[in-house]
Amino acid sequence: MTTPLLKLSQISKSFSTNYALSNISLEVNPGEVLCLLGDNGAGKSTLIKVLSGVHKPTAGTIEVNGAPVVFDSPKDAGDFGIATVHQYGGTFPLMSVARCFFVGKEPTKGVWPFQYFDKKTAGEITVTEMQKLGITRVTDGNRLVGSLSGGERQSLAIARAVYFGAKVLILDEPTSALGVKQATHVLRLIMQARAQGIAVIFVTHNVMHAMAVGDQFAVLIHGKKADGFRKGERTREQITDLMAGGEAMAELEAELAELTGPVRLP
Ligand SMILES: Nc1ncnc2c1ncn2[C@@H]1O[C@H](COP(=O)(O)OP(=O)(O)OP(=O)(O)O)[C@@H](O)[C@H]1O
Ligand SMILES: [Mg+2]
Repeated sequence: MTTPLLKLSQISKSFSTNYALSNISLEVNPGEVLCLLGDNGAGKSTLIKVLSGVHKPTAGTIEVNGAPVVFDSPKDAGDFGIATVHQYGGTFPLMSVARCFFVGKEPTKGVWPFQYFDKKTAGEITVTEMQKLGITRVTDGNRLVGSLSGGERQSLAIARAVYFGAKVLILDEPTSALGVKQATHVLRLIMQARAQGIAVIFVTHNVMHAMAVGDQFAVLIHGKKADGFRKGERTREQITDLMAGGEAMAELEAELAELTGPVRLP
C-alpha cells in the first residue's frame, strides 16, 4: 500500500447549525483524476474550499503524504502544492494576462528595495506556458483577462498551477460554462496534468465529462458521500440516477411523457 498524496478523513463542515459536509473521507494519488459529482448544493465547492484552505473543517483531518496538516489560509494549501481554480472568479478581468499568471509570485528585476515587476519576462513566460496548453491565440501578455474566452481563462489558471509546480490541481466546475469544443479542451488539459503525475480533483455535474477522464469518483448528496467507486464500476445511468435520486428521475420521466404525449407532428 502506498501513502496517498492527499487524504481526507471524516471531514465535516457546518455553517452555524447547517452541515454542508458530514464525514467525508477521500484519497487522491499522483497521476489520478478524482471526479467529485453531485447536484447543486451537495457540498462540492465547500469540500474544495476546505481542501484549499479557504474554510477550516469543523471536524476531521487532512493528511498530505501521510502527515496531518492544518491549512490556515489558501497560501498554506498552496505551499503544500495544492492549486485550486475556484468555481467563481479566481481571475481578474481588468488585469493583464501576465499579471494574473504571476499574481503573488511576480518575477522582479533589480535589488531590494528597488525591485519592480518584470513585465516583459512575465509576458513571455505566460504566452509560452499557454501555448504549451494549446492556447495559441493569446500572443500578448498585456491582453486583459476580461477579453479571454471562458476556456482560455481556464487554461490560464491551469497553466499557472502547472508552471508553479502544483502537485494537486483542483478544478471546481471548469467545464460548466463552456461550449463543447472548449470543454473538450479543458478535459484534454486534465489528461495532460494527469500524465505529468499531478493529482487532479475535478468537480462537475456532467457525468459524461467525469466518465471521460476520471479514475475514481465520489458522489455527494446533501453533504454526505453517497457513493465512491473506480472507473468501470458503474454505468452512466447508475451515476445519473444516483445524483438525481432514482425516484426523482422516474417521476420526471413520467411528467415529461405526459407533457410530450399529446404532441403530434403533422
Ligand atoms: N459560507 C456559507 N455560509 C452558509 N452556508 C453555506 C456557505 N457556503 C455554502 N453553504 C451552503 O452549503 C451547502 C453546499 O454548498 P456548496 O456551494 O458546497 O454546493 P455545491 O455542491 O458546490 O453546489 P453547486 O453545484 O451549485 O456549485 C449549500 O446548502 C450552501 O447554501
Ligand atoms: Mg459549487
